[in-house]
Amino acid sequence: MKFLITGGTGLIGNRLSKLLIDNGHSVNILTRKIKNQDNSGLKYFVWNTSKKTIDNKCIDGVDVIVNLAGSSVFSLWTKSNKKMILNSRLDALSTIYRLMKKKKNKVKRIISASAIGIYPNHKSKVYYENSNEISETFLGNVVYEWEKKAKIFRDFKIDLSIIRIGLVLSEKGGIFEKLLQLNNLGISSIIDGGNQCQSWIHIDDLVNIFLFTSVNNINGLVNGVAPNPVSFKELQNNISSNYKKPFLSLNFPKSFLTIPLSFLGLSDFYNDMIGSNKRVSSKKIQDLGYKFIYPSLD
Ligand SMILES: NC(=O)c1ccc[n+]([C@@H]2O[C@H](COP(=O)([O-])OP(=O)(O)OC[C@H]3O[C@@H](n4cnc5c(N)ncnc54)[C@H](OP(=O)(O)O)[C@@H]3O)[C@@H](O)[C@H]2O)c1
Repeated sequence: MKFLITGGTGLIGNRLSKLLIDNGHSVNILTRKIKNQDNSGLKYFVWNTSKKTIDNKCIDGVDVIVNLAGSSVFSLWTKSNKKMILNSRLDALSTIYRLMKKKKNKVKRIISASAIGIYPNHKSKVYYENSNEISETFLGNVVYEWEKKAKIFRDFKIDLSIIRIGLVLSEKGGIFEKLLQLNNLGISSIIDGGNQCQSWIHIDDLVNIFLFTSVNNINGLVNGVAPNPVSFKELQNNISSNYKKPFLSLNFPKSFLTIPLSFLGLSDFYNDMIGSNKRVSSKKIQDLGYKFIYPSLD
């Protein structure tokens, strides 16, 4: 099959394109920066999502589009960055939509990234794909709008899957890399006892789920999380025992962060990122036959 990956140069896109090439598929990448073609087997095409310009040739012969593009949420949540986080995601989808409307193509499926940030924080609830609950936070709204936009591709009568991605564990980027960096400096820190539930997924399982979804024609929402979530404290302990024992273990009271963040108008940053606490189920993808390579943190 031929895949087109938007945001394919990022953490997930990099790993996914390698998996696809290793499995004999062809991969086109949409990026904002002109790149020289290399010998990796990937073909690069340039777009500008805010101007809605795109190299029309990127879609030639493509069977499946994987949409990962979006400005990073690991930034300071200023007004302009928040606007960028939302608009980059909506503009990316609109740009692809306009191209598909304009140019004859044979795309059969779009798999769009989403995030478990759509679910509200809760101490004990388990979230399945059929949950109607939407977090009333900045990220909850971003993800809601992002998924709503992805649904416009139904106009083309093609298959649509939306993967609600959990906390991706990779040594090469994302939150896990940052925790590792801190740990390697000898510091381990938790907040409010560290009991917040983390619905994580190993990057290799996540990219395999993208492939599994396209090969097995799976439509609709899919939670991209491992079967065994852990508390933040367990995640930290696991890092400490597998990488380097920290000499400084900190346990910050919640108010240590929530008070200054609320003064700065960044309360959502606590709820969505630092204090994120949700238990998300992987039952659907397992029932559909996906076998996790890394079902538990150990
Ligand atoms: N990693 C996680 O834990 C996690 C969890 C939940 C959801 N997700 C979502 O999954 C998607 C992929 O995640 P990732 O970790 O691979 O992210 P990433 O490493 O930040 O990569 C995202 C890619 O999007 C492109 N991009 C950035 N800003 C853009 C803009 N303004 N307009 C168009 N493209 C832009 C970049 O490609 P170019 O620079 O080449 O254009 C970048 O490589 C993201 O949308 C993310 O929100 C990730």
